[in-house]
Amino acid sequence: MDIHALQQIVHSTRDTRRKQTIAKFSPADRDQLIHKYHPDYRASAYRPIRFGPNKGDRTVVELATLLEGDSPIQDDQDLTPHYTTDVLVIGGGGAGCAAALHAHGAGSKVMLATKLRLGDSNSVMAQGGMQISVAPEDSPVTHFIDTLKGGHMQNDHALLKVMVEDGPAIAKWLIELGVLFDRQADGNLHVKKGGGSSKPRLLTCSDYTGLEIMRVLKDEVLVAAKSVILATGGIGRLHIQGFPTSNHYGATGDGLCLSYRIGAKLAHVDTFQYHPSGAVYPEQLIGALVTEGIRSEGGHLVNAKGERFVNELDTRDVVSSSIIRECEEGRGIRTMSGRVGVWLDTPLLDAEHGPGTVEKHFPAMMMQFERFGIDISKDPVLIYPTLHYQNGGVKIDTNSESDVKNLFVAGEASGGLHGRNRLMGNSLLDLMVFGKRSGLTAAARTASMKQGKLTLRHLQQFRTEAKKHGNPSGVISPMILPAYTRKVG
Ligand code: FUM
Repeated sequence: MDIHALQQIVHSTRDTRRKQTIAKFSPADRDQLIHKYHPDYRASAYRPIRFGPNKGDRTVVELATLLEGDSPIQDDQDLTPHYTTDVLVIGGGGAGCAAALHAHGAGSKVMLATKLRLGDSNSVMAQGGMQISVAPEDSPVTHFIDTLKGGHMQNDHALLKVMVEDGPAIAKWLIELGVLFDRQADGNLHVKKGGGSSKPRLLTCSDYTGLEIMRVLKDEVLVAAKSVILATGGIGRLHIQGFPTSNHYGATGDGLCLSYRIGAKLAHVDTFQYHPSGAVYPEQLIGALVTEGIRSEGGHLVNAKGERFVNELDTRDVVSSSIIRECEEGRGIRTMSGRVGVWLDTPLLDAEHGPGTVEKHFPAMMMQFERFGIDISKDPVLIYPTLHYQNGGVKIDTNSESDVKNLFVAGEASGGLHGRNRLMGNSLLDLMVFGKRSGLTAAARTASMKQGKLTLRHLQQFRTEAKKHGNPSGVISPMILPAYTRKVG
């Protein structure tokens, strides 16, 4: 059936659905749902890591293979440095830029290295906003509790405490730098509510919050080691378990491989975030993010029978598991190309809040679909979970330092803060807070340090251990770009 014919069920059931309230699942039902349908619980997709700091821990096959991979560096590499600097930041997204700015501001000589262009990152693609408790009825304590619940109580408490407490100062800093957050008619900051949050606390710039923050940060950076800050972002382009991704092409988990090889322990390597709403139609947009902001403003998720099946503002792992359940149990909508998904009723926003709402609040999303002749204010969007975020990463302390001295890790490459499920908008705050903390700590540390001698001792140790366990894959990592972006022949 053609897509417009399939959409009719959404239009014809809208008025009935508007009268319904969908309760959240009980804790027992949530657990059961997640264990049955969430990709983190597909045992066949996992295996233990054979050696290194996380020996014996289970993770997805794609990541285990990369972590155990060999380095492209040869043992006889000439180690004469081409440049010297106090602080080397690797990664040019939000966390990297924040780290570089703060280290530079503290008087350090900083070099920022990025494999793509400055700003090319998941940060620049962030749509839904940044959680900071700025509203009078909100507080860092409430933000702490919401995040802990969202993360299944597995979050590192010390990291979470500093993130929620540093948040308001980060908002002030960004506003002073020139970030234009959305405001109410009275001039106060406008805050929205995200899934799993008890209070509205998302600071937004329409649906291009990351782009606006990066516009300002990129203007501020001066790019030209005694210490290194890894801010290399996520892992979506590994397409774990064959999932499409909302991530930038550079999201290939490079920082995880580099840190692991030097002996840094990783946290929560077995958990990933599959964002509930990745585009399923048109084919050109497969996996692209359709922001949670649409559900925050009341957008319904609707199955092929025209029914709602989950509270749309439950945590992402619950919502994604419910969508997978609907599709696996035959209540999904199948496209002509054989993909399956459920509807996100976007026109409902204009019906609820007045004509023009979708266009005004989601201009970037409107434009993205208009390029393919789809008006999301008139027609619903077909969606399915998309690989969005690595919940874990390199284990850090509150100064963003890994358990390898002077190796700092900030942003999505780090782990522990979000537990087993990150809340919407906590990522942009994470990278600003820990970008700052890593930059300031590295700068303070290097002020009294002498330049060390470069060695490949860590690599020799890693290779010896790899040999003991056999490294049959012959994989070289980091992969830098996904295989399908390379030239053939
Ligand atoms: O849905 C979103 O806009 C995503 C936000 C986030 O991952 O923080």
